[in-house]
Amino acid sequence: MTDLDLAGKSAVVTGAAGGLGLAFAEGLVRAGAHVTIADINGAAAAMAAKGLAGLGGAHAVEVDVSDEASVRGMVEEVARARGRVDILVNNAAIYAGLVRKPFFEITAEEWDRVMSVNVKGAFLCVKAVYPHMKERGGRIINIASATVFSGSPLWMHYVASKGGVIAMTRVMARELGDYGINVNAIAPGFTLTEASRAAIGDAENYGVSRGALHRACQPADIVGACLWLASALSGFVTGQTIIVDGGRQFI
Ligand SMILES: NC(=O)c1ccc[n+]([C@@H]2O[C@H](COP(=O)([O-])OP(=O)(O)OC[C@H]3O[C@@H](n4cnc5c(N)ncnc54)[C@H](O)[C@@H]3O)[C@@H](O)[C@H]2O)c1
Repeated sequence: MTDLDLAGKSAVVTGAAGGLGLAFAEGLVRAGAHVTIADINGAAAAMAAKGLAGLGGAHAVEVDVSDEASVRGMVEEVARARGRVDILVNNAAIYAGLVRKPFFEITAEEWDRVMSVNVKGAFLCVKAVYPHMKERGGRIINIASATVFSGSPLWMHYVASKGGVIAMTRVMARELGDYGINVNAIAPGFTLTEASRAAIGDAENYGVSRGALHRACQPADIVGACLWLASALSGFVTGQTIIVDGGRQFI
């Protein structure tokens, strides 16, 4: 079996107005899926969907993944428009805009905001799509981060949130396996997106010397893992976290 077989599938990618999420959305659309580009930035999501229109099916929905009513509304809209939800990519996160600081300077409010989007957001999205997946099965792909394995300093709330995403992936895989729903995570290393370039000086060279492959990571480098996890090719894989970082870390 070599075909990704995503034709006709209905996928939701959160945080897909730009960066990695948009790269996942484009990969899924090129593979034949219809993609809902779900983002808190509705105008940017609409632009992104327009940009993909020539490649296949995509439409935009504005959502705040940290708000349960908003997430439910998004999933209901997708179910109404597409009749099904087969693939969910939990990519939305508070990430590059975070001010790096020692953990003892992180305020309780900053901690709560990161957790409410990065951890609760993924939980709420899975909770909302599960009723639409349980008859036919489905694929859930949670975007974590390789920072969990390196213990990347000065943004403990972010790193802890991505550790939570990996932990949830394992529990969800066990609880949803009987419904034919596979749940896996991707842990990207530092990847050149607009957001990460703004956050890190000399981004092109950041961490390159530490990687076995000795080059910077582009969003397209992460997309293959997402397509594989969304496809029948990974049908016996669940509960796993795949590090995609050009060989910077081995676990
Ligand atoms: N770029 C990297 O180096 C890197 C490395 C490891 C992991 N990641 C992860 O990859 C994902 C994408 O990162 P990126 O570099 O493309 O960053 P990004 O900031 O461009 O993407 C995040 C997206 O999430 C959206 N978003 C934020 N809060 C939201 C909310 N409450 N509801 C809905 N959407 C919301 C933003 O509008 C944005 O479009 C994130 O989960 C990030 O943690 C990125």
